[in-house]
Amino acid sequence: MRSFSLIAPAKINLYLEIIGDRPDGYHELVMIMQTVNLCDRLDLHANGTDRLRLHCQNPEVPLDETNLAYKAAKLMQQEFPQIAANFGGLDITIDKSIPVAAGLAGGSSNAAAVLVGINQIWSLGLTVPELQILAAKLGSDIPFSISGGTAIATGRGEQLDSIHDLDNLWVILAKHRNLGVSTPWAYNTYKQKFAHEYLSDPHDVKKAVSKVHSGPLVKAISHKNGVEIAKLLHNDLEKVVLPAYPQVAQLRSEFKEAGVLGAMMSGSGPTVFALCESENQATKIKEKVQAKIADPELDFWVTKLCSHGILANQ
Ligand code: C5P
Repeated sequence: MRSFSLIAPAKINLYLEIIGDRPDGYHELVMIMQTVNLCDRLDLHANGTDRLRLHCQNPEVPLDETNLAYKAAKLMQQEFPQIAANFGGLDITIDKSIPVAAGLAGGSSNAAAVLVGINQIWSLGLTVPELQILAAKLGSDIPFSISGGTAIATGRGEQLDSIHDLDNLWVILAKHRNLGVSTPWAYNTYKQKFAHEYLSDPHDVKKAVSKVHSGPLVKAISHKNGVEIAKLLHNDLEKVVLPAYPQVAQLRSEFKEAGVLGAMMSGSGPTVFALCESENQATKIKEKVQAKIADPELDFWVTKLCSHGILANQ
């Protein structure tokens, strides 16, 4: 096989709690992650040269070694040097639908697709858990991006427990086109303000994680109860991002006022997501909020929660 095409979905965080900091400089987290049906497409082609090339029409996407998709291909070449030498380089084309630097793990999802795609093209036979170990070397969200669906993520975000799939709800995503929030800035600012609340005793950290595992949000997810899920949405990073970015706070409150089940910032933002019972409700509320805020630079997407991660594009 010389070519492989993949679908790479975005994710939202239904829950993001910062428990403490870690010796490796990251934060100890407990999150509930959810893939959504807003997807990039990646086409991988073994080009028979010794070059690794990225192609993407979106000018915001870097095409050099700083791109996570590029780093993923480089990692596979380093891990499997002989097979890499047999196949030569790759052309990787990214057809971008997921907004960039949005808190939707678009870059992580692209990197996850490259790992899955190279596994296929090189016939490596790596299992999903084996791919996820490699993925964790590249970024905290990438192991989840491989398997997707609904999962509790702990540690840096790389330790995953799948829970009941939640694909009955619709979601509106909204993002100001030229607004980006730096993830390291969000976590560092949170640390400056809230480090005094961090848990450090491993026993306390474990307790905080178990509380989420056996808590009401996971229960509501297992019952696919949209009303309850929406009441229990939580993201600690809102405490620092919303005061610094009033447009994000406004978007969140306009969605709530318009009657969605619940609205919350995703990851470190600036995307806000709003959960809805149906496509019809989501479309109507999107139009209402779009008319109310009336900002031509504000982009909206109406889509559904989905139960998959990286898929072959058939
Ligand atoms: O792992 P990833 O590269 O996606 O993380 C981006 C940034 O987010 C990190 O450099 C760090 O500042 C912050 N982060 C963190 N703790 C985590 C995950 C991310 O502090 N568990």
